Amino acid sequence: MTIRRFAGAALVALGMGMAAQADDLPPPGDAEAGKALFARYCTACHGEDADGDGPMRPVLVIGPTDLRRLAVENDGVFPLRRVIWRIDGRDPVLSHGSMMPVYGEVFGAGPPETLRAATGQPIMTTEPMADLVAYLRGLQVRQP
Ligand code: HEC
Repeated sequence: MTIRRFAGAALVALGMGMAAQADDLPPPGDAEAGKALFARYCTACHGEDADGDGPMRPVLVIGPTDLRRLAVENDGVFPLRRVIWRIDGRDPVLSHGSMMPVYGEVFGAGPPETLRAATGQPIMTTEPMADLVAYLRGLQVRQP
């Protein structure tokens, strides 16, 4: 009787835990850690404010993207998969090192992490990438 009641309570708690995980918890990723990674690896081109105006801009053939406008330029939806793939090299950007991704060692390594696109599609990546993406999401402007 006591055991059965305990098991029932445990199941309810487990159920609540799973529901919370599915609906309530924020996506994984530590924006503060992401900010530090961005400052170290990205500001030379994309700029301290991520507006695309870094010190290397004048020498680049294509101007670096304004990373605060990723969502606005994509109908208000942060293009999660494209961003991750462009950084980790699965969808290469020439200035990022093309076929040999410059950032593979940083963002391709580390504990695995799964993020979800707005469509619910899971995207396998790593903890450093989740941190970086959390930071980039926080920078998005709302006005077109
Ligand atoms: C050597 C300069 C340089 C560095 C360093 C750099 N980028 Fe870029 N990045 C570019 C350029 C130039 C483009 C635009 C290329 C294009 O449109 O083909 C770009 C494009 C991107 C895009 C694609 C945007 C889109 O609309 O799909 C993302 C995302 C991005 N960079 C993120 C980053 C992040 C995050 C870092 C740091 C880890 C970084 N970049 C470091 C130059 C750089």
